[in-house]
Formats: sequence, C-alpha cells, structure tokens
Amino acid sequence: MSQIRALRRVASLLTTPHTPEDFLGLLNPLASSRQLRGVVTRVVRETSDSTTIHFRPGRGWSPHLAGQWARVGVEIDGVRHWRSYSLSAAAGHDPAITVTAIGVVSTALARGTGVGDILFLDTPQGDFVLPTRPRPLLMLTAGSGLTPVMSMIRTLVPRRPDADVVLVHSARRPEDALFRDELLELADQFPSLHVHHWYTREQGDSPELAGRRLDLSTPADLDTLCPDWRQRAAYACGPADFLDEATELWERESPGVMDSTGARLTIERFAPVLLPGTGGEGGLVTFEKSDKEVEVGGDVPLLDAGEECGVVMPSGCRMGICRSCLTPLVAGKVRDLRTGEVHGDEGELIQTCVNAAAGPVHLDI
Ligand SMILES: Cc1cc2nc3c(=O)[nH]c(=O)nc-3n(C[C@H](O)[C@H](O)[C@H](O)COP(=O)(O)OP(=O)(O)OC[C@H]3O[C@@H](n4cnc5c(N)ncnc54)[C@H](O)[C@@H]3O)c2cc1C
Ligand code: FES
Repeated sequence: MSQIRALRRVASLLTTPHTPEDFLGLLNPLASSRQLRGVVTRVVRETSDSTTIHFRPGRGWSPHLAGQWARVGVEIDGVRHWRSYSLSAAAGHDPAITVTAIGVVSTALARGTGVGDILFLDTPQGDFVLPTRPRPLLMLTAGSGLTPVMSMIRTLVPRRPDADVVLVHSARRPEDALFRDELLELADQFPSLHVHHWYTREQGDSPELAGRRLDLSTPADLDTLCPDWRQRAAYACGPADFLDEATELWERESPGVMDSTGARLTIERFAPVLLPGTGGEGGLVTFEKSDKEVEVGGDVPLLDAGEECGVVMPSGCRMGICRSCLTPLVAGKVRDLRTGEVHGDEGELIQTCVNAAAGPVHLDI
C-alpha cells in the first residue's frame, strides 16, 4: 500500500497542477476517482415522453438492489444538476434509468442523451426493496412510478417460480404505459405474475372498469382486481395524490398482520410531501460566497431560490431524504415546509430542498 501511495505522490508531482486522475479522465472518462461516472451504452425510447438510459458505471459503483435509486448528475449549459432516478434494470444487471420528461433536467436526459455520453453518478440507495422472505405481493403503480417496481418484477419473476405477484398499473392509454409489451410477455410466460393495466382514458383489461381514474378512496376497485389484496405485502409508487389515497385505504382497511418491517404498504415518493399552508412571510436570502441575493416567498425552498438566481446549489433527491443539499446557515431562521417548524442556529446545516426563508436568511454558499 505504501508503495502505491509513493507512486501516486510521484505521479502527482509530475502532473501538477493537474492530478493523475485528470489525465486518466481524458483517456478513460470512467476512471476519475473524484466523481463516480457512467457511460451510456444504450438508449431506448419507451413512450412519447419516456426514455430508458442503460449505462456502464465506473469504479466506485455498488450493485443496486431491485427498487433502489441513484443520484444522476447532468450538465446543462455548463451547470451540473442532480436528480434522483430509480434503477429500472433487474438487480445483477448493468443499471438503467427510465426518465419521463416533465422538467428541465428530465427533458434533457430523456430527449438529449446518446450512446457514449457520460453521466455523473452516486451509488444506489433507498429502502423501497423486496421483502427478505418470499410473500405474495401487490404492486400498485401509476405513470413513471412503475420504474422501481419494474426492477423488482424483472429481478423476482424469472428467478422465482414460487413468486406470487399482482401488478396494477395505471396509465392514461396503452401507448403511455411503460414496459407494456414486456410485462404482458412476462405475464404470459410466468404464471406467478398477474398484470392489470388500468387506462384512465380508455377501457382496459376489465371492461366494466377503467376509462376513469383508479379509485383508491374505497376498496371497490382493488377488491375487483385483486380480491386478496389485504393479505399481500403491497408496494406503491406514483403521483402524490395516488399515494396519499393508498396510504389512507391501507390504514382504514388493512390493519391485519404486519410483515417483518412492520409495514403492509411500502411507498416510494418522487416528490416531497409538503404541508399545505406551511409557508410564512419569506424574506431576502443572501448566498454569501456566491455574492447573490434574492427576495423569495415563504413557500419557496431555498434550493429553488438559489438555483433561480444562478447559485450552484448542491442537491440530490430534492425531497428531504438524501441530505446532499445540506448548506450551513450563517444567520436568520428557516421554516421546514414538511412540518411548518421554524428553526435555525448559526452554523446549523440546512436541508435547502425542504426549508424556506422565515425572514432574512444568510447561507454560507
Ligand atoms: C427516489 C426518487 C426516485 C425517482 N425516480 C424517477 C424515475 O424513475 N423516473 C422519473 O422520471 N423520475 C424519477 N424521479 C423524479 C426525478 O428525480 C425528477 O424530480 C424529475 O425527473 C423532474 O425533474 P426535472 O428537473 O425535469 O423537473 P423539475 O423542474 O425539477 O420538477 C418539476 C416538478 O415535478 C415534480 N415531479 C417530480 N417527479 C415527478 C413525476 N414523476 N411526475 C410528476 N411530477 C413530478 C417535482 O416535484 C417538481 O415539482 C425520482 C425522484 C425520487 C426522489
Ligand atoms: S436534496 Fe436530498 S435532502 Fe435535500
């Protein structure tokens, strides 16, 4: 080890002011030890607004568990933006993300990525993973919420003939349904998988149903699609109102035996749950090192405020789970948009994605 360190020191002296990694990065873009990267190996257009990007990660990546997500960094106009994406490939395979174009970063990824492009990465994380012991499963997904569940199905169904998985997936129309053909083929091939597509704009598998929103405010739709849903370990991922309804339904209707994690319904959210009306009066936010300031409302996350005025803000999940956005507070008070709590001591690390100004705020960035 000490010989390797000595060699690195010599290499550093020879290459100063650049590091050996800078030169390695020119030869092999995945070789940088400073920032985990991946090279795009395949791009598949899934629907009119969704694209799967397969990539080969470089040194430092750890294999993902089915259902986990990773932070992905993309450079747009010279600024690196980070977002989180579920890994849609089966565990044990090279990773892939499936991105739906809805905003600046996702549109750049979904529409602008090509084979050979480099993605900046962070290692996979997240607890939305398959149970440790086999159980009958119900997967409840809508729109792009299918992506982590697709990884679970691809991982579990072909390998475990004893699996018992029911998927209820809601999409607007058949052509908007992600991975539709693959799911139907898997369901044909493996009796352990039952797939129900629910089309909100057209009739689906059950003619008396669909053509309307999947209603989770009562158990009726689930009783029809999956009569034993109360006995299954359930996983749900989709828009906020879909997940809120599912949570309430399970709390009301399925208070039975808990699984090993204590949860009968496990949820993955793509956006934070903010308490309505938590925003206060806002204030002037000063980004000291960047020499920028902006007047913002009390419901605007400090992360958005910084990005709006051109400050390069660290970020990741943008929903209060990964802590990549922690920024030291120099002065002032902030409001947690999830709880309404006002807090802030000098030097405190603030999660800028879920906190807003509560009066004038100074941040050390
Ligand atoms: C754990 C996790 C996993 C995720 N996995 C995926 C994934 O597999 N595929 C994917 O496309 N996105 C996924 N996302 C969302 C992704 O990180 C971005 O938020 C999304 O791509 C929008 O980024 P943007 O910069 O294009 O738009 P922005 O301008 O940043 O966001 C636009 C708005 O859309 C909201 N939003 C985020 N995701 C969705 C959504 N799916 N549907 C509707 N509104 C949304 C955001 O909260 C924001 O208010 C995931 C997010 C998290 C936290
Ligand atoms: S960006 Fe993940 S906690 Fe703020």
